[in-house]
Amino acid sequence: MYGIVNKAIESLVIESFGETKWHAIKESSGVDVDYFISNEPYDDSITYSLAIAVSEETGLSIADVFTAFGEYWVLKIGKEKYGSLFEAGGSNLKDFLLNLPSFHNRIMLIYPKLTPPEFRISDVRHNSMYVHYLSKRAGLKDFVYGLLQGLGKLYKTPVKLELINDRENGDHHEIFKVSWQ
Ligand code: HEM
Repeated sequence: MYGIVNKAIESLVIESFGETKWHAIKESSGVDVDYFISNEPYDDSITYSLAIAVSEETGLSIADVFTAFGEYWVLKIGKEKYGSLFEAGGSNLKDFLLNLPSFHNRIMLIYPKLTPPEFRISDVRHNSMYVHYLSKRAGLKDFVYGLLQGLGKLYKTPVKLELINDRENGDHHEIFKVSWQ
């Protein structure tokens, strides 16, 4: 994944636990990269190794690490660095989610070697919809959970999330039912 992802893990850890903890995590992850460069692609294994080391060094479960990272990605990285992309994506949660399937097309203009996730939307109701998540990568559903929770906070529309389908249970892809008031 692009370096911006690994850099975001680094800044989340430093903000939450301090520099010393980050150095311990980096050391125990075995990742041998001094500085991540945002627009350079790195092997996915680096991101997974960092997430595992964060879990081991903080005592948080891997699921909690990815959920926290998803929220941070939207509320800090996305909002502060790419606010205009969110504005273009929609002025409220429902519109943003309806536009989510094409969101990473714009991001590919910035990061051309992106391997983006795929999102599909179905079962749209007044205050809920199904968000389908399809990925070439494994193990990131908790990241998506955190991203969706972060979007609810960003748009000041708290969400209820239910995992309807799960690749771990043999389903083809994850489906989240997202509901709000
Ligand atoms: C401005 C905001 C965003 C930026 C700049 C961004 C950028 C990126 C980047 C650089 C990656 C790494 C992929 C790679 O390097 O191949 C990524 C992955 C991903 N993004 Fe985004 N993203 C943004 C917002 C979102 C939102 C709002 C969602 C969903 C609600 C989302 C869902 C994901 C997921 C699930 C992945 C993991 C890739 C996979 O599943 O294979 N992103 N994004």
